Formats: sequence, C-alpha cells, structure tokens
Amino acid sequence: MFYPEEIVEEVRSKVDIVDIVSGYVKLQKKGSNYFGLCPFHNEKSPSFSVAPGKQIYYCFGCGAGGNAITFLMEYENYSFPEALQVLADRVGVTLPKEEMSKEARAQADLRASLLEINKLAANYFYYQLKHPQGRLGYDYLRNRQLSDDTIRRFGLGFASKRGDDLYRFLREKGYTDQLLKETGLVSIEERGTHDKFWNRVMFPIMDVNNRVIGFGGRVMGDGAPKYLNSPETRLFDKSRNLYGLNYAKASREKFFLICEGYMDVIAMHQAGFTNAVASLGTAFTKQHASLIKRYTDQVILTYDSDDAGVKAALRAIPILKEAGVSARVLNMKPYKDPDEFIKNMGAHAFRERINEARNSFLFEIDVLKRNYNLEDPEQKTGFYNAAARKLLEFPEALERDNYIQAVSREYFINYQDLKQLVHNLGSRLGPVRTEERKQAASSYQERKREKEDGPKKSQRLLLTWLIENPRLFDKIDGIITADDFKEDLYHQVAKMVFDGHAKGEVSPAGILNHFINDEEQYKTVASLFSANLKGSLTDDEWKKAFSETVIKVKKNSLDEASRTAADIGQLQEIIKARSALKTLHISID
Ligand code: UTP
Ligand code: MN
Repeated sequence: MFYPEEIVEEVRSKVDIVDIVSGYVKLQKKGSNYFGLCPFHNEKSPSFSVAPGKQIYYCFGCGAGGNAITFLMEYENYSFPEALQVLADRVGVTLPKEEMSKEARAQADLRASLLEINKLAANYFYYQLKHPQGRLGYDYLRNRQLSDDTIRRFGLGFASKRGDDLYRFLREKGYTDQLLKETGLVSIEERGTHDKFWNRVMFPIMDVNNRVIGFGGRVMGDGAPKYLNSPETRLFDKSRNLYGLNYAKASREKFFLICEGYMDVIAMHQAGFTNAVASLGTAFTKQHASLIKRYTDQVILTYDSDDAGVKAALRAIPILKEAGVSARVLNMKPYKDPDEFIKNMGAHAFRERINEARNSFLFEIDVLKRNYNLEDPEQKTGFYNAAARKLLEFPEALERDNYIQAVSREYFINYQDLKQLVHNLGSRLGPVRTEERKQAASSYQERKREKEDGPKKSQRLLLTWLIENPRLFDKIDGIITADDFKEDLYHQVAKMVFDGHAKGEVSPAGILNHFINDEEQYKTVASLFSANLKGSLTDDEWKKAFSETVIKVKKNSLDEASRTAADIGQLQEIIKARSALKTLHISID
C-alpha cells in the first residue's frame, strides 16, 4: 500500500460515491439506493447499483463492485495512487508526499527507472538507424515505403549485428545489471551478456501516454522469429496495451480500426488512418475491449484475410460486443493485410473498404456459409437452419427481425420463410432456449454461487446477513465468532465486520480498502456487501435458513478444528461443542 490506512480512509470517507459515479453514469434513485446502466458491461436495463449508506457500488449483472477508489481505478484505468490523488484533490485532502512506505517508494522508483531506460534504448535504436551503421535497417524500412516522417513519428530504430551494443551503452550510463535485466532488453547469464534484440529493425511500443513500455524487433527479410517482442515486464502487460493507441486516441474518427501488427498500424497511420491500433499478435482480450470502450463504441476489424485472421475476428466480435463495442469487418481481399492493401490500392480504395465494412453478424453468417455447399439441397437446408439458429441469439424481437430481413436479402431467402423457420426453431428449442437464456441472464453472482461448495456458501450467506442486519449479531452471540469463518477471504472480512460491530460501526467501503490491490477480492467483498438479502424466501423460510446456516458454519468450523486439534483436551472440547450444536435453537422474531 502506498499510503497509510488512515489517509486512505480519510479521503474515502470524505467523498460521496454517488457524486463520483454520477459523473460517469446516469443514476436514478430507487428506495435508498441508486441504479443505472453498468459502465463495465453492456446492458439495456439497469443492474448497476450504488448504495450511499454503504458507500459502495455493485453490478448484479457482471459482478463489478467496489468503493469510490476502485470505481476510478476501473473506469479511468487509474492506478491506486492516481485514483486516490484525484479523490483527495476533490475533497481537499493533501496527500503526504513522504509517507510512501520504503517498499512502495522502491517500486515507484523502479518503474521510473525502467521507463527511463526504455526511452534511452528507443533513442539509441533511432540514432543507430539514422547513422551509417544503421543503413541496413533504414533501407529496409524505406523499401517498405515508410517516409522519414513516419519513421520519426513511430520512433523506429535499428539494433546492430553486434550482440551487446545496447548493453554496453546502458552500462556506460550507469545502470546496474540487476536493473537492466528487469527491462527485458538484455539477458545476463553466466555464459555472458547479450542484447535481446540484434540485427533487427526496432518498433518501440508506447502506452497511451507516449511512454515506451516495450519493443518489437523485425528481421530484415526472412528469418524466424519474424518479430521478436519484449517479454512482459513490470511496465508491459500485453493484454492491456494497444499499439498505436497513443495516436489513435486523438483521432477525430468515430471508430477505431483494429489490426494485427506493427506494420499495419504504421501503414494505416501513414495513409491518414490515424485511428488504427493493434493487439500485436496476442489474442484480443476483454481488457483490450474495455480499453477501447473508453474512447469509442465502434470498431472496424482489419485483420488479415487468411484463416487465422478470420478466426481472430470471430473471437474478437463477441468480446467487443460484451464490452458494448459494435464491430464491422473490413474485406481486405485480394490482399493479405492493411499494409499490403494500401501499398497496392492506396488510401482512397481503403476508405471505400471501410465504408463497405460488413456488419459483424452478417460476417459471422458469411463464415458459417463456407461450411455448406449451397448447390446441394440438403446442405442448403442445413445452412438455413444454422442461420436461423444464430438469428435466435438476438433476444429482442425487433432487432431479430431486422436481422432476419438482412439475412433474407443477402442470401436470397424468402423473408417470410426465414421468419417462419426462426419462429419454428424458437418454439422447438423453446424449453432448451429458455434454459440457455436463463443461464445467460442469471447474474454473474448466481453463476459464481453455483460453483461454491457448501461450507463456503454458508459462510458467505451468514456474513452477508450480518452485514445487512446488525441485530443478528445478538442472535449468534456466544455461538459464532469471526474465527468460525474458515474461508480465508471471508475470515478477513468477518474479522473487520465483527470488530466494527463491537465498536458500533461497520463501514463496508472502509473494509473494501483493505482489498484494493486485488480486483477479484474487492469484487467478491463488494458482492458480500450488496447481496439481495432474503432473496425470494418467505419470513419463516428465512428464519429457518438463518438458523441452519449458523449451525452449518459452526459445524464446519468445529470439523476443521478437530482436524488440527493439538491434544485430547482440545478434542474433548470440540466434541462437547458438537453435541451442544445438536440442541441449539436460534429464535428470531
Ligand atoms: P504477421 O506475420 O501477419 O506479420 O504478424 P505482419 O504484421 O504482416 O508483418 P510484416 O508486414 O511481415 O512485417 C502479425 C503480428 O503478429 C505478431 C507481430 O505483432 C506482427 O505484427 N508477430 C508475428 C509476432 O509477434 N511474432 C512473429 O514471429 C510474427
Ligand atoms: Mn504485413
């Protein structure tokens, strides 16, 4: 943690979460809570809740949850200190500069040094490229029709054939081996020290703030691997960065172009399409999608036209959709990738292809069609059925009908016939489909719960009930303590909740602060604090459930204790407690 707990809690307690969230999400008051459309997943009816009493938010749809600090961390992609700083400024708290723990300071210093070294390395490679020793690289790039301007803008460079040039350069600047190792730019082994990149043209990878976080290096000509990339480091997380985003974010276009590689991004930018980004060979991730969603909700996929590119598009489409980004797919044929297309056809033709880019659903149907030979009546029927089944994926009748129209038009299928087919299939698959749909619609929370084992579930339930209804503490007095929660995370939370209760105040958002470094954890804790209490139970059912749950939690705790009992005396205690449990009666009125 960067700051002492009290400071974090001071800032947190002074901000109002409703204030913060409503800067981003339109909220409506319902009862004591607020609701709105979740900014972390795509939805049409609001399942995102903000509880001013608890100062936390929670989405019943996707499970996003936390306090004001985590909200900014997730929405703005801020680090913890960045989020804290913004909130502190807002409520007029001055964060102590010197209070960083020694370890935290060391971490921050390390990151700063790594950035500094990367920048030096990028400058070094660029310098080489622009001097006689880099002629080979320069000619290679110029041959690929990159202008001097483009080379400068993307900071392209050259790593010479000598295997330790960069290492020596950086050592001269005074950096230690230890530090240089962390950059991923050199490997230091007993056999000797050598640069990771040599005899390659170099592509610095910049983050959204123009800081160099890694490199790619291409062989000049044939050779394997064609591109060598920096390993993941403290700075470089491949699933969270998009090449070209530092420029694309400033583009005026309403959409982003997504492609596969370095040269594609650069070629598109050079041709005036400065809204192009690439996920650089790695598969497109959810994090990429939410990064994009911060800037636009429309993309055009310009992956390679080969099978791998089609596959990559089919994978990316649902990920984008889930994040609320709609995709279209550009037809690159007969060329392989944007670089080759533009080189051969020019920017104007590329712009036309952008305008003609195919709706992602119709693209998926196109790909589907390839599996069927439409000359064959049986296969043709097979295709129609498959298309109808896919059309059923649209839950809303109106949208589904629009697509039925489009598909019938595109594939020369009679509209009424197709509609009928979809309808029949829908009622035939009815029971299955409602089951499927229920699954899809069942909240993240429920799905997670299904996987939970018994003891874990009882602990979660009991904890949730106690948080929601402090009167229940009296009912379990002398029976349950925080130590009866054996599940590690629940145990930690229980300790804080029990302590808080003893002091007369349980602060959900304050408790969340303790888990701020682990997204999985703070989401789980936020869900504990947000559970929909009795669910669909009647009062009597609930009383029974409560009593049974207390007994389950206690029993599980005693079972564990008996497994680790140190001596006979302890074991006897446990056995006594176990039999007492049989006659335990909890009354709630
Ligand atoms: P491609 O093989 O399609 O290369 O890989 P390209 O982008 O067309 O590159 P040029 O035009 O031949 O120079 C697409 C992307 O996959 C990653 C790179 O990011 C590349 O840009 N890749 C590819 C690697 O990381 N390593 C490789 O060996 C190959
Ligand atoms: Mn290429």
